[in-house]
Amino acid sequence: MDSFVNDFDFENRIVESSVTEEDADTEVTLRPHTFDEYIGQEKAKEVLKIYIDAAKMRGDTLDHVLLYGPPGLGKTTLSGIIASELGVNFRVTSGPAIEKQGDLAALLTNLGEGDVLFIDEIHRLNRSIEEILYPAMEDFSLDIIIGKGPAARSIRLPLQHFTLIGATTRAGQLTTPLRDRFGVLLRLELYTPEELAKIVRRSAGILEIPIDGEGALEIASRSRGTPRIANRLLKRVRDYAQVKGDGEITLKVASDALKMLEIDELGLDNTDRKMMETMIKYYDGGPVGLDTLAATVGEEAVTIEDVYEPYLMQIGFVSRTPRGRCVTRLAYEHLGIPYRPGRDDGQMKIEN
Ligand code: ADE
Repeated sequence: MDSFVNDFDFENRIVESSVTEEDADTEVTLRPHTFDEYIGQEKAKEVLKIYIDAAKMRGDTLDHVLLYGPPGLGKTTLSGIIASELGVNFRVTSGPAIEKQGDLAALLTNLGEGDVLFIDEIHRLNRSIEEILYPAMEDFSLDIIIGKGPAARSIRLPLQHFTLIGATTRAGQLTTPLRDRFGVLLRLELYTPEELAKIVRRSAGILEIPIDGEGALEIASRSRGTPRIANRLLKRVRDYAQVKGDGEITLKVASDALKMLEIDELGLDNTDRKMMETMIKYYDGGPVGLDTLAATVGEEAVTIEDVYEPYLMQIGFVSRTPRGRCVTRLAYEHLGIPYRPGRDDGQMKIEN
């Protein structure tokens, strides 16, 4: 087993959807600042605009918002736009960054009236810290305990009215009391290739990279529905265009560059292909339990679930069944492996 665990390079994938150090700088430059500049997520934008306008008309703060969906879809960006449309300050933190109750208390007491507090990866908040959030979200008050033992007493401090925006890869990972305190729950969807092509052209414009429509669509189609990946591929294809061509990204340049990066026409890299090949080779295409699969490929189960699977499921290559994950016929065809009928490809099969 060990030898092929090493074949999986989960750390250095160019199609990884979490933020790398290089992305962090460019994301700031490329980040849209208004709803008009923000491409895609039409449903989420439509409802948010209404809630924002309504709150402004009432002179009220916006209700707390929970944004969920796979990484790299622009949850932080969208939250920044919400704050700017509301005309308030935007404070950013993340679940794992808040280590003590005092850290959160400090953040909350420093908020101005109507400000937006954004907590990324909110499902990773420690339970004892989460409890501070309940009265803060509900009554805009902070309950703190002073002293220890029998002398301990609780005091209640008023907070300014604020809007909490929580972001998570899955709403189901949140505890029920926390989830129930959000008035607005919005799921962000993977982007279509056409939307991503618009994002690529916009980013290329900002970064002054010459690109034509077909070149942009080629990068977009291989970006797994994720703007963060599209922007990263754009930069790598630009490098290739500079060295191997005249700097302009055309269909041919984009497809040659992506071939060099071993990203296929659907945006799958070697890691995706190896994961599905492992499911076929060792588990007859499934069903294989998530934990078993995770142990076999040497990755955490949640990462497989949140990062790799959403796209493989969206393109119909992997399905979830009550008995585990399965590779579908479409994936066999894509991998060039003969499909052996009779396997469970997502439809429930009667076992006897
Ligand atoms: N960059 C990242 N996400 C974007 C989006 N949705 N629209 C425009 N530019 C983006």
